[in-house]
Amino acid sequence: MTEITKALLPAAGLGTRFLPATKASPKEMLPIVDKPMIQYAVEEAAACGINEFIVITGRHKRTLEDHFDTVYELEENLKQKGKKKLLEEINRLSHLNFAYIRQGRPLGLGHAILRAQPFVKDEPFAVLLSDDIIDPEEKLLSNMIKFYKELDCPIVALEEVPKEEVYRYGVIAGEMEEDGVYRITDLVEKPSPEEAPSNLAIIGRYILTPDIFRVLEKMRPGKGGEYQLTDALKGLLKKRTIYGYVFKGKRYDAGDKFGFLQATVELALKSSPVADKFRKYLLEIADRIKKDSK
Ligand code: UTP
Repeated sequence: MTEITKALLPAAGLGTRFLPATKASPKEMLPIVDKPMIQYAVEEAAACGINEFIVITGRHKRTLEDHFDTVYELEENLKQKGKKKLLEEINRLSHLNFAYIRQGRPLGLGHAILRAQPFVKDEPFAVLLSDDIIDPEEKLLSNMIKFYKELDCPIVALEEVPKEEVYRYGVIAGEMEEDGVYRITDLVEKPSPEEAPSNLAIIGRYILTPDIFRVLEKMRPGKGGEYQLTDALKGLLKKRTIYGYVFKGKRYDAGDKFGFLQATVELALKSSPVADKFRKYLLEIADRIKKDSK
């Protein structure tokens, strides 16, 4: 069984739900507390032993590349000022390898993933959509890798969502094989609540096998005129078994303004350098809101 050492980080979307912030910089660089979203995804994957990252970039390539590069002047400055902790912090990911591939036009997630084929070659790989922030204490990706090793099949992360929200996701039909693990029998991209075969929605973590590229190469645009990964998975399903792993922990859709605010508040309250001060501040605000609403 080939170990999973590579992760794809698609970051070439237009980020229309977060305009105007995403007009000139990628949403993946928006900070949650003190780190850009994409760094949470990189840290999550690195904690699972992944050390090669392939970032699919769009027109805002530079900030993403710069973020994971060494910044000589900054390092010198921090060294001179004796700011050891900050120096450690900015170098914490320096052992990881990054490659950047441009997706000329944002033609969909399936199209973005196909761009990485020459880098991934014949290995299984993880895909992390960094606007889906998973609480760093949760073990989603590591559990998916564990099941991948056991089942030797592609695995997508699933979440039970309210029926009225299924239209925002790819949704599966499937049969539960063991607690939280479904053998997928069908997939539908962004169905209406009436069309949806279940309320099990695909969220932004995947373990894929290289045969997905053969399907992606032959694909036609689907919903919204985009090359949808869900459609490619449906094509792959004709050839092999695909599993879904139901995640029960905390996920924030930080590509959406409300989800972004939720992620910011929740992660600031957890182990951030400002956690105590922020908790106090929120309690004051909650008091004020209560008084105002009386
Ligand atoms: P989204 O569905 O969130 O689309 O993409 P988006 O364009 O980024 O944002 P909205 O919906 O317009 O607000 C899911 C992930 O796939 C990447 C995005 O960068 C995001 O990480 N993506 C999407 C690409 O890399 N290329 C694409 O063509 C589309």
